[in-house]
Amino acid sequence: IHVIRAENYEEMGRIAAKKVIKLIKEHPAAVLGLATGSTPVGLYRELIQDYRQNGTSYRSVRTVNLDEYVGLDQTDHNSYFSFMREMLFSHIDIKEQNTNIPNGKADSLEEECLRYDRLITDLGGVDLQVLGIGRNGHIGFNEPGTSFESNVHVVQLDQSTREANSRFFDSIDSVPSEALTMGIATILRSKEILLLASGASKAEAIKQLFEGSVSEEFPASILKNHPNVTLIADQDALQLAG
Ligand code: F6R
Repeated sequence: IHVIRAENYEEMGRIAAKKVIKLIKEHPAAVLGLATGSTPVGLYRELIQDYRQNGTSYRSVRTVNLDEYVGLDQTDHNSYFSFMREMLFSHIDIKEQNTNIPNGKADSLEEECLRYDRLITDLGGVDLQVLGIGRNGHIGFNEPGTSFESNVHVVQLDQSTREANSRFFDSIDSVPSEALTMGIATILRSKEILLLASGASKAEAIKQLFEGSVSEEFPASILKNHPNVTLIADQDALQLAG
């Protein structure tokens, strides 16, 4: 894993944005893998600012998001569909039909998983996947214990993940208990991966990533076996890493 140290959250976003913009300039029809959560918001802000100032165009870009809650309507303000529209898509010239997020309201979740796997394959795979990391080492919604062979699948969310994400909901009880997520094998098929980490709450996970072995008990550890991963982390997230 190639490591880039950023001063703070804002710089992490700026460095990540430069990489995304460079890819889009070189490959205007690139397939971007995107994440939600607090970590990539700064990156998305930078992309929006660059779009306004420099006109970098997304009209041929395709996107696939990592995950979505099961059971929330797209219009629910906590759905990742709403999140992406609000944080990025509505501010740039991307075509809605080129953006993809798993459908957590599909009649058959099993079929939806197969559809989403096939969709990624049909797009030619992900050129650049943006990832955050959970405090327990999860990537996407792949909690500890998830098989490294997993494709897109339905998951039960860990209590710790529901608690972490409850900040966006009225109460922990309204956080869905299931989600659809790209699997570990799906993520690993990306040609390039940008792992972002910011803040002291991620310091233990980053230390574990560097020092621990590759194990399904710590999903992010598998990234050490991928040939093209860059970790962009700020000082706080790196404070326990030697
Ligand atoms: C989001 C996702 C999650 C988050 C992780 C970190 O699409 O797949 O793995 O990246 O939970 O969340 P934040 O960034 O909110 O700390």
